[in-house]
Amino acid sequence: MLKARVKYIKMIFLLLSILIISESALAQQPKRSYNIVFTSVSKVEYNKDYFEYYWVGLESYNDTTKTLNWEFVLLKDYPKSTWIKVESYESMDSQFKKGVYVMDMDLCDYFDSDTLVVEDMKSLSNKGMECPIPTGFHEMKNYLVNTDRYPSELPGENWMFSLTLYEKHDTKSQSDNIPKEDIIVNYKVFVLIERDF
Ligand SMILES: *[C@@H]1O[C@H](CO)[C@@H](O)[C@H](O)[C@H]1NC(C)=O
Repeated sequence: MLKARVKYIKMIFLLLSILIISESALAQQPKRSYNIVFTSVSKVEYNKDYFEYYWVGLESYNDTTKTLNWEFVLLKDYPKSTWIKVESYESMDSQFKKGVYVMDMDLCDYFDSDTLVVEDMKSLSNKGMECPIPTGFHEMKNYLVNTDRYPSELPGENWMFSLTLYEKHDTKSQSDNIPKEDIIVNYKVFVLIERDF
């Protein structure tokens, strides 16, 4: 009887230690060997027909980390054909050179298909990130890059991402001297990929 109980307790201990070991192994698995740190944001250029104002900036989260934030007041609906373009630039020899990563797509399709940032930003936004985009006051607070969503390795160190929302025109029905894109908003986000920590 006593022997059986000791055996039982030993088995429980064994199960518990297996659980604890596998739990800590799992917790370490998705960690990346790098951090993506925001260093600055350019002045926002925006079309005053659409916005009362548009601010994007960094806020201190703790001693070492800054978060991305924005606030804007949308005065009227975005045009039917609003596209988002994100271009990457890498700093090399103290000059920014265009990198390979370019994204250019319909804004609503982007909200539906992105797997890197939209879900996190949506949860930090007062009006979400879905189409149709409502007019009025929008804000997003304290966005930090979640590297678990990114590839296990990233190249380079100093990157700049230029983000543009623009109205895409149907080029077929227009003459050459009308621009194909009307910029709604543009700003640039500078990041550092930190590897030594
Ligand atoms: C600051 O916050 C980031 C993100 O949560 C964290 O990785 C880092 O360790 C924190 N730094 C300090 C000094 O608390």
